[in-house]
Amino acid sequence: MGTLNASVAVKPPGSLAVERVERLSDADLADLAEATDAAIIEGGGFGWIEPQGRGALERHFRGVLLVPERELFVARLDGHVVGSALLVRPPRNNEAQAIAATLTHAYVAPYARGFGLARLMVAKVEERAAALGHRVINLDVRETQATAIALFESLGYQHWGTHPFYARVRGQTVAGRYYMKTLEPGRGRSTGALIEGG
Ligand SMILES: CC(C)(COP(=O)(O)OP(=O)(O)OC[C@H]1O[C@@H](n2cnc3c(N)ncnc32)[C@H](O)[C@@H]1OP(=O)(O)O)[C@@H](O)C(=O)NCCC(=O)NCCS
Repeated sequence: MGTLNASVAVKPPGSLAVERVERLSDADLADLAEATDAAIIEGGGFGWIEPQGRGALERHFRGVLLVPERELFVARLDGHVVGSALLVRPPRNNEAQAIAATLTHAYVAPYARGFGLARLMVAKVEERAAALGHRVINLDVRETQATAIALFESLGYQHWGTHPFYARVRGQTVAGRYYMKTLEPGRGRSTGALIEGG
């Protein structure tokens, strides 16, 4: 597919879409596994270090779809799944932290980058989290993931801390950056008033 340069306006070869999925067809699962392994091989940044192969990844995503607190979002380019992200909600026993949800495992396959799919995916995750009543989104990312960091900061995520021993990747310790962003629910008290009002 060649290297994409963000400074050059590249016209996407097809339609862009992001959707929350509760089930995936066999074809979607195969595309998702291919996109995931391609992103891992290119440098990962969302957990995996080694490519997993289609069978293991398909089992992984079938498992994700079974977990009530995990909501899977997929990015599509011309109908094909080329990336995904997870919205992780606090478990029901964690009432004190029901205010916050976590955005994690966000990636787009290298062959579909630079078209705005990650930006769209984050927007959809935020919209869903706000609709579910969450007022805060948390996320963390390896400090080596420069594109992701630029993306999250441009979307208003606030860097509040760095974990010096966040991950080990190929024998190297890598720090991790922790971010948060407040969400407005669109109805009821604003998040600012809620937080300050105690
Ligand atoms: C981070 C990532 C998801 C971005 O996906 P993407 O679909 O290419 O992103 P978008 O097209 O929505 O671009 C969003 C921003 O990323 C940056 N960006 C995208 N492509 C870029 C490129 N080729 N070079 C430099 N910056 C780039 C830009 O800041 C862009 O903002 P803009 O829309 O104002 O130009 C993708 O690079 C990726 O999967 N990286 C590896 C996994 C990872 O780091 N995940 C985050 C950990 S949770």
